[in-house]
Amino acid sequence: MATGAKSFVDNPLLGSGRLNRAGLHLGRVRLAHALGRWRRGRLTHAVPPDWREQFDRDGYIAVPGILPLEEFVRLRAALLQLDLECREHQQGETVTLRLPVGPQLLREVPVLAKLLADPSWRAAMAYVAATRSEPLYYLQAVAGGVAEGAPDPQVELHADTFHPSMKAWLFLTNVADEERPLTYVAGSHRLSPQRAAWEQAKSVDVMASDDRLSQRGSLRISPEELEGLGLPQPTRFTVPANTLVIADTCGFHARGDSDQATLRIELWAYCRRTPFLPWTGLDPLSALGLSKRKAELATRAVDWLAARGWMKQHWRPAGPWRERLASYQSSVTAGRSAGARTETARSVPVGVGF
Ligand SMILES: [Fe+2]
Repeated sequence: MATGAKSFVDNPLLGSGRLNRAGLHLGRVRLAHALGRWRRGRLTHAVPPDWREQFDRDGYIAVPGILPLEEFVRLRAALLQLDLECREHQQGETVTLRLPVGPQLLREVPVLAKLLADPSWRAAMAYVAATRSEPLYYLQAVAGGVAEGAPDPQVELHADTFHPSMKAWLFLTNVADEERPLTYVAGSHRLSPQRAAWEQAKSVDVMASDDRLSQRGSLRISPEELEGLGLPQPTRFTVPANTLVIADTCGFHARGDSDQATLRIELWAYCRRTPFLPWTGLDPLSALGLSKRKAELATRAVDWLAARGWMKQHWRPAGPWRERLASYQSSVTAGRSAGARTETARSVPVGVGF
């Protein structure tokens, strides 16, 4: 109860219709949001005021041109050339490639080390995440429409979890509207009375639905429901390279769909800490001096558990990052020249342009 556990289906208490009718889920949501607000109130220092204003209003911070152009070009060139071993994971027709950012990578790309240590950058990450716990950083490439499979589940609007948590993207490539842009429902990070009523209703009904991903704690929402919650249609982040987006992913978001093969490359950050903490720091890994190794350690920990049959490792080894990227780049180029795929694409609604 006092952790970030979110799956209704894996925990008989969290999934209990009787307890949720009595307000268990909504009680956890309310307490987690109240503590998140309290922690954020103590993390405002060094966050540029216009960024903070944007986040409080919209649930995300979007900063085009985060780096001086010459520095960004150097950063991108260095990141795309790395030979370190990466992993990949297929969801439907989309393959995601990830390379954890660790001490070796930071030594090879000092311009990245400098960026991740920048006080405004760190303050903004901490503010959105509502914790000073160091985010996990990865290089990430999303190759969409390159594999055979069911529709990508990420194209459905959803909240990742029930409490404030952070994901960030520094786009290394331009993202056009047909290139599976990130989409986000502005203002959906707030626990409004309508959202609270929706959470309560969902928590009671979810186990009777056939929506497996909602049952696992990432509640899906249909675009038609947004208006009833006083929310707009999603903003689509069709942005130039060198744009940073930091979002609270308890707000509704998705990946835009496309009928083309596409490749998006980004520096990606993730931070989700146990939500019921009144303090903003006291992160054990940071105290042990391991904060720069977090992403690598997370991968190894899952490998260790998977080797003992206690967990499934979804991320399979995919060889050197540069080579794998090049192979997806050529699949995308080949896919595009072969024309649009024939199957019907499912689409998220066209929202406000960014
Ligand atoms: Fe998500």
